[in-house]
Amino acid sequence: MTEDSLIASQRTSAPESAVFLADVIGGLSSNPRMLPCKYFYDERGSALFQKICELPEYYITRTEIDILDRNRAEIASQLGPTIELIGLGTGAGTKTRILIEALEKPAVYVPVDISETQLVESTALFRKIFPDLEILPVCADYLQPVVLPSPGHEAARNVVYFPGSTIGNFEPNEALEFLQRIANVCHHDGGLLIGVDLKKDPNVLEAAYNDRSGVTAQFNLNLLERVNRELGADFALDQWRHQAIYNSSVGRIEMYLISEVDQFVHIDKHKFHFRRVEKITTEFSYKYAPEDVAALAGKAGFEFVRIWTDAARLFGVFYFVASR
Ligand code: AVI
Repeated sequence: MTEDSLIASQRTSAPESAVFLADVIGGLSSNPRMLPCKYFYDERGSALFQKICELPEYYITRTEIDILDRNRAEIASQLGPTIELIGLGTGAGTKTRILIEALEKPAVYVPVDISETQLVESTALFRKIFPDLEILPVCADYLQPVVLPSPGHEAARNVVYFPGSTIGNFEPNEALEFLQRIANVCHHDGGLLIGVDLKKDPNVLEAAYNDRSGVTAQFNLNLLERVNRELGADFALDQWRHQAIYNSSVGRIEMYLISEVDQFVHIDKHKFHFRRVEKITTEFSYKYAPEDVAALAGKAGFEFVRIWTDAARLFGVFYFVASR
């Protein structure tokens, strides 16, 4: 049996490119124009995101890792022994590895990720490092309802782990719905460990999304390259520019691609006109105050237990338990 055949795959039935095309046409026809941020992560986009995580200005990844590292024993004792850990979008698994190493006799690990390559690689690595751990990888888009596998080992409770502040890329109403779905997965006494980027000085935020070396700009522009590559569009990449601003009235970073000239773009049978300085919204990244995270999770059916944070309170790792 190969690693691939060990992975439960839950793909949607529509061909992926047809869905991509429909989302792009729909997004560019809407007012204001937008492209869904989930399409950032093709192979090149995922590699660029890895680079972003290592940028000096992008404090998010290293701060979260540092918080986990410093508080690993406390976090593990809060989650308890022999748990089933369900990791959502855990990618290469750097953070999950820190967590699992600290846990007392974890029973089961269920990583759920859309990237099959990363899932295969991280599963192979984790099976080597944790030979006694039952690992049940699921290749799926966790934004859609996912059927989780039934483990062979009995666990004391299940805990969903959602790192990286990906919750910030959802609109607040989507975030609430998503947390409600997680609450339904958590059995009695189940928990949620979630990493969330906190509100802070707008200058720090804007620097993180407008890095000096231009990697975030490449990451943003890669979305147009992907539309060209996969859907045969003719976006002229040198006629678009990246912009990220912090909108303090709604507490979010807004990422845009801005047309530098008056131009037409062809995609499939569609022709789009863009005026000079017209924008396409590509991503929102909401920043939360700790009490907002607790209130949101509370509405979704969780009770706040604890927050671990860094000295500058840039980032929070929150633990909640299912309250119903
Ligand atoms: C994945 N997500 C939490 C990142 C963020 O910070 O919102 C995506 C990102 N966009 C630009 N830089 C990083």
